[in-house]
Amino acid sequence: MFEKRFMFAGSILSANLLALGDDVGNALDAGIDIIHFDVMDYHFVPNLTFGPMFLKALKAQYPEAIFDVHLMVNPVTEEIINAYAEAGASMISFHPESCIHIERMLSFIQSKGVKAGLVLNPGTAPQLLRYLWDKLDFVLVMTVNPGFGGQKLIPATLQKIADIRRMAAEANVKPLIEVDGGVDANTVASCAKAGANIFVVGSAFFGKDDRKAALEALNQGLASFREA
Ligand code: DX5
Ligand code: ZN
Repeated sequence: MFEKRFMFAGSILSANLLALGDDVGNALDAGIDIIHFDVMDYHFVPNLTFGPMFLKALKAQYPEAIFDVHLMVNPVTEEIINAYAEAGASMISFHPESCIHIERMLSFIQSKGVKAGLVLNPGTAPQLLRYLWDKLDFVLVMTVNPGFGGQKLIPATLQKIADIRRMAAEANVKPLIEVDGGVDANTVASCAKAGANIFVVGSAFFGKDDRKAALEALNQGLASFREA
């Protein structure tokens, strides 16, 4: 499922919400690897988005698609995890600030047969990852403060990606590192260079009319790293 070296995850936050099903189909046809599903609750972030029923409906229409659920909710509960796992998530991540028993919650996600991840806000230190590697299938590094699409990537977060890659290598593990926020054709290469391998793209993909061309531009942006 995750054998490609680099993958793009289209964030439906920037999709056409009045034709979400068709729009996701269009994104998959264009070749997007993953559908990124941003869940916001008006508590963790000042915005409100998609409940599990949206995911269930999309999964029914596109059973082969990989749905990546990014929970920006507070608190995170087993009930919430369960709802999105049952609805068809392949990956679920949450922010450590919204959970007291982080290790237990990661284990709970994995027990559902879903890949488990922690999300780090720009101001959140990565040190806790050291003690959680065996429960972490991936790490999601926020390159903007979460809540809205269309923001500019915060350059200091690139250093954090590199720090996480180094920490993981020291521990002899190779988690997937996903980046989220302000990733576009101009910034994607520096994210890859820092060590990321999954790139969430909202405005730079779903925000464009021609998704094939958007993906091509992103791959071209990546090429400068691949060729280096
Ligand atoms: C922000 C979300 C992102 C967002 C990214 O809170 O987690 O997934 O949709 O959007 P862009 O790519 O426009 O920065
Ligand atoms: Zn996200």
